[in-house]
Amino acid sequence: MSARSVTARHERGVPPRVRLVEVGPRDGLQNEAAMVPTDVKVTLIESLAEAGFPAVEATSFVSPKWVPQMADATEVLTRIRRKPGVRYPVLTPNLKGFEAARAAGADEVAVFVAASETFSKRNINCTIAESLARVKPVFAAAADAGIRVRGYVSCVLDCPYEGAIAPAAVTAVAAHLHTMGAYEISLGDTIGTGTPGRTRALIEDVVREVPLGHLAGHFHDTYGQAIANVYAALECGVATFDCSVAGLGGCPYAKGATGNVASEDVVYLMQGLGIETGVDLGRLRAAGRYIAEYFGRPTGSRVARALDAKDPLPQ
Ligand code: HMG
Ligand code: MG
Repeated sequence: MSARSVTARHERGVPPRVRLVEVGPRDGLQNEAAMVPTDVKVTLIESLAEAGFPAVEATSFVSPKWVPQMADATEVLTRIRRKPGVRYPVLTPNLKGFEAARAAGADEVAVFVAASETFSKRNINCTIAESLARVKPVFAAAADAGIRVRGYVSCVLDCPYEGAIAPAAVTAVAAHLHTMGAYEISLGDTIGTGTPGRTRALIEDVVREVPLGHLAGHFHDTYGQAIANVYAALECGVATFDCSVAGLGGCPYAKGATGNVASEDVVYLMQGLGIETGVDLGRLRAAGRYIAEYFGRPTGSRVARALDAKDPLPQ
């Protein structure tokens, strides 16, 4: 890429390096009805860390009655071989989850709230205000323990029950999490209905209250718009994106929603733009092949499918 085009990109605010948070072992696997063995989860997490992700979201300390797939959270987090420099955030909806995560050696936790009242009720059985009150002691306990807290906001564009969500509602919740001490707020297009123009308008609204450097994009790909939304957010200056190996996933409380944008597709996009990620696409493809073969279905990554057809990985 010429020096001139790099300069032109930077003038538009596109960052030279992005941080990719691999969420497949959590966001991806939580949606699987049949229990995935702990060994498979551990192997997947370790191979994603080896591929170069700076953060691999490992599991969720949620109620096993609500999400049975995550019932082995303690085993997963205590069994993984941790790669120095890599973070392994875990979801914690309340203090009970936080305490269990801390006991299992969590180095980072993530709290999750919604910008839609109905989704909040369906996902975590409380109102938005109650969810913010519920995570307040998590922030306090995490600060005492020296553990970083990430915040998620779900339904930032549309809700599966309420339809379109106003950017102001998202901004209010994101600002609340930021004020409570979340080092980063990940904006979740939970059902993947968003398009780039709305993504841009959302970010322009949220940055009025939360500095750009504290925002991440979390785009599900149900309508095939996730990579376009990543690019729109990138052009706004967002420099952290969540992605899921082989495009695994969805949310058990957002019926029909598919997985996050495939990690392989995001890495390919960034490579094409000359933007550093630190992720090795070959190793990532191998991790994707491992989990796709485990499920016995094709990868959800278009880049992985195309590269496999042209340039298969060694067995
Ligand atoms: P509740 O039923 O209202 O809570 O659930 P409760 O306090 O009455 O507890 C019910 C039972 O769960 C009790 O057990 C508690 O002890 C237990 P019982 O006395 O009946 O035997 N319990 C727990 N067990 C383990 N760990 C815990 C925990 N808390 C309570 N932390 C609750 C409220 C929040 C617990 C529940 O609704 C829940 O776990 N929800 C999680 C739903 C979930 O994981 N959804 C997917 C993740 S969010 C997502 O995917 C979106 C995201 O990707 C971004 C995006 O895409 O937008 C992040
Ligand atoms: Mg999600």
